Amino acid sequence: MQHKILLTGCRLATMAEGGEPYGLIKDGAVAIEAGRITWVGPRDDLPEEYSAYEVEDLEGRLVTPALIDCHTHLLFGGNRAREFEMRLNGASYEEIARSGGGIVSTVNATRAASDAVLIAGALKRLDHLIAEGVAVVEIKSGYGLTIKQEMRMLRLARQLETLRPVKIVTTWLAAHALPAEYEDRADSYIDEIAIAGMRHAAAEGLVDAVDGFCESIGFSPEQIARVFDAAKELGLPVKLHAEQLSDLKGALLVGEYGGLSADHLEYLAESDVPAFAQSGVIAVILPGAFYTLRETKLPPIEALRENNVPMAIATDCNPGSSPLSSILTAMNMASTQFAMTPEEVLAGVTRNAAQALGLAGDYGTLSAGVRAELAVWDADHPSELSYWIGGSPLFKRISAEPNR
Ligand code: NIG
Ligand code: FE
Repeated sequence: MQHKILLTGCRLATMAEGGEPYGLIKDGAVAIEAGRITWVGPRDDLPEEYSAYEVEDLEGRLVTPALIDCHTHLLFGGNRAREFEMRLNGASYEEIARSGGGIVSTVNATRAASDAVLIAGALKRLDHLIAEGVAVVEIKSGYGLTIKQEMRMLRLARQLETLRPVKIVTTWLAAHALPAEYEDRADSYIDEIAIAGMRHAAAEGLVDAVDGFCESIGFSPEQIARVFDAAKELGLPVKLHAEQLSDLKGALLVGEYGGLSADHLEYLAESDVPAFAQSGVIAVILPGAFYTLRETKLPPIEALRENNVPMAIATDCNPGSSPLSSILTAMNMASTQFAMTPEEVLAGVTRNAAQALGLAGDYGTLSAGVRAELAVWDADHPSELSYWIGGSPLFKRISAEPNR
């Protein structure tokens, strides 16, 4: 998209802060040049210079920033439907993990799968997200658990970007689970695979950020801190699966490292929220995992809201705890399960999700200077985006990249 385009006949949810809810502009215009937005505002205020742009009339449709799924594990082998069945017959997620199922069973299936099979599976889920207006997807490693296999995961994740009109952000998550070959040697695993592998992967330019699973069935805060120290040395930002099943103070640990986000947070103590808020870390809320695991402990949404913590929403697309590849369904779940407002939810998959990936300024709002990544919806009001359950009201995406 190299030429100059002027979108008119549209209602804009700019997601700019501080004004109307959703940054709503009823009769708006968006000027785009060389893949960037150059002007946004009410049609009546359009400066003369933009009237020479090629006009595209959107016939009254709603325009939002393209959506962002800032936490997924969507590249994996196999599936875990049998475990889903076991849980419904009474087994818990932790019990299944401890008996050799859970993440480790997906590790076996992922290691055994060919590149082509992993790509084909990932594309199915990615296409579903794209059909719902998503333009940026974060994908984690974490189902390889050897240096070679973890690097393969990130290489394949990056390859998806060449196959579809989407930006992929890759996250090194070797500290996800302990593979059988390191049984009772978690500290060695951290040194020899999670940290040593991160250095190799970073040297190959495969890593945008570093994550871990801080949990009794994952890794301790001390082990995660060693991973974070190494990430810091490499200049890589950190994030963490924190307080999903218990309160190990992982969210505060991310804060100590000036990290991007703390994700899940069901067991984050309300009393820790003020300190967490000070750290400037984004709270990533994952309603698909809450729903799938039939969790009953709610994340402290009200406290996060009162302390002005920016909240993002993501699918957590993975074969165990969240077999969900619909960002719109995640948005609906966040509203219904956590009483997040449709405005909070839309900010959670645009502005705040961009911040959670370190992409604010390029993605997540409609404002002059950002990349022209927009979603056009057959909808009257942005509340519709978290209202429908099933089906996508997407009319089309508009994308800055020529191949998008
Ligand atoms: O975000 N909790 C750790 N990681 C994933 C689950 C991965 C899996 O069960 O395969 C999560 O819930
Ligand atoms: Fe996750």
